[in-house]
Amino acid sequence: MVDNLIITEQCPDPFALVIFGASGDLTHRKLIPALWNLQQQGRLPESFILLGVARRDLNDASFRRQVLDTLQDDRNARDRAAAEVFVQRLFYVQGDYADLTTYRRLRERLDTLEPQWGTDRNRCFYCAVPPQVYPDIVQPLGQTGLSCEHSAGCGWSRIIVEKPFGHDHESAQRLNALLHVVFSEHQIYRIDHYLGKETVQNILVFRLGNSMFEPLWNRRYVDHVQITSAETAGVEHRAGYYDGSGALRDMIQNHLLQVLCTIAMEPPSTFDAYSVGIEKLKVLQAIRPISIGEVDRYAVRGQYEAGEVEGQPCQGYLEEPDVARDSRTETYAALRLTLDNWRWQGVPFLLRTGKRLKTRATTVTLQFRQPPHLIFPHASGLPASTLTLHIQPDEGISLSFNGKIPGPDLCLGTVHMDFDYAETFGGRSPEAYETLLLDCLRGDATLYGSSDWVEKSWELLMPVLEAWTAPSSRRVPRYPAGSWGPREADTLLEGEWRQWLNP
Ligand SMILES: NC(=O)c1ccc[n+]([C@@H]2O[C@H](COP(=O)([O-])OP(=O)(O)OC[C@H]3O[C@@H](n4cnc5c(N)ncnc54)[C@H](OP(=O)(O)O)[C@@H]3O)[C@@H](O)[C@H]2O)c1
Repeated sequence: MVDNLIITEQCPDPFALVIFGASGDLTHRKLIPALWNLQQQGRLPESFILLGVARRDLNDASFRRQVLDTLQDDRNARDRAAAEVFVQRLFYVQGDYADLTTYRRLRERLDTLEPQWGTDRNRCFYCAVPPQVYPDIVQPLGQTGLSCEHSAGCGWSRIIVEKPFGHDHESAQRLNALLHVVFSEHQIYRIDHYLGKETVQNILVFRLGNSMFEPLWNRRYVDHVQITSAETAGVEHRAGYYDGSGALRDMIQNHLLQVLCTIAMEPPSTFDAYSVGIEKLKVLQAIRPISIGEVDRYAVRGQYEAGEVEGQPCQGYLEEPDVARDSRTETYAALRLTLDNWRWQGVPFLLRTGKRLKTRATTVTLQFRQPPHLIFPHASGLPASTLTLHIQPDEGISLSFNGKIPGPDLCLGTVHMDFDYAETFGGRSPEAYETLLLDCLRGDATLYGSSDWVEKSWELLMPVLEAWTAPSSRRVPRYPAGSWGPREADTLLEGEWRQWLNP
């Protein structure tokens, strides 16, 4: 039985959502279904509109037809009549992102539609385009005054910038500088959809909404922390992007470092964007930098070769379409990080992610220290207790610890206590994009990344990226598809009793 205690249920102000890249995959697979679901749940105001912007030759009618088809495929949108009503709020502006006239036409369209729909000139701009297009969009939003807020009858104006936010430290700094010419920091929402996942949000509730876990959450009781994001999929249709990016940029710089910060941060005094942001930044500042000469000791990369995943044969990364035959891009990356602060001194944080691994799972495991003295005979090999937070695919939390196996002899065994989101709460968890879109529309940036955080995360990873891309760098270790990654990853734990905990 679960007692509900609703903490936030604020409805956003009326708004116009403008999506750049309205013809793309993200818009149709995530953003429009998220908006639809939010509306169906009664979480949106009466007055809102969506304007799609893209180069493709569409108009309001053909855009609406496309959206209807998208919604028809969505598991929650079988109600065609309701979907027909929903799409009447949708409009389309065709144009090139780098052309100022596109934004003039967008502005004219908004000026006409906003009074009709009563959206109070509150505007949210979503950059759902490839990252090289972001600068094309930001500047004209400034030039046409669309970024202005609370002046000349305008309401608020916000911009959501998708990941990847930069390709390295310098490009992230450049993008931040460009955004800051046009928008103030409080208007900028840097999205990382991992932060919208239920378990990631629950980490803080679990730690700070109970008094029994937080006392254990430190170097005195925790031996080490493992953060794993394993995918069974290969690069699929994203090879063009992925081959220029790799696992470190694609997963660790954003998702896994955000999860690490949520695990390792000090409790903020209040749950708001400013206080949470400061604590997360302090975690990054406490991470001991890896110098270029130390990269081989603290970082391991790998590339999958042919193998079998879930019983299906898979080709190697270098045989994938759109991948350079001599590519050195890593499809697996593992890091060992150390935090220099009072709470975590001496506790290794092990991060790893990879494609074509054995199982699809994202987990965080805190392995606790062994008891200081074992009074039970022959119990020296007793497994350490662990707490695992399951982020995907099945969201939940499990605790494993030692117990006595019933019987006249003193036999010890490991037992598990599992909390499963779906089983406990039933129904469906909201998609991450629903949570994050709603937060932005409410003006809550707690689950979004700040400029300082993004730049610091890149700065920390630069030595690793530089070492891996240096012409003199060692050959990329290989691992068979369907395995747990390259054997070299074990060197991160060499000479220790610790081992990788595979989900
Ligand atoms: N798809 C996902 O699930 C996902 C998940 C996380 C993050 N993201 C991020 O979200 C953004 C959008 O992703 P997406 O998968 O929707 O991308 P996409 O489908 O490749 O592109 C979105 C739209 O951008 C326009 N576009 C594509 N390439 C362009 C170019 N070179 N120059 C100008 N316009 C171009 C196209 O529209 P027109 O040609 O009609 O203008 C396209 O429909 C990316 O930054 C991606 O990294 C996506």
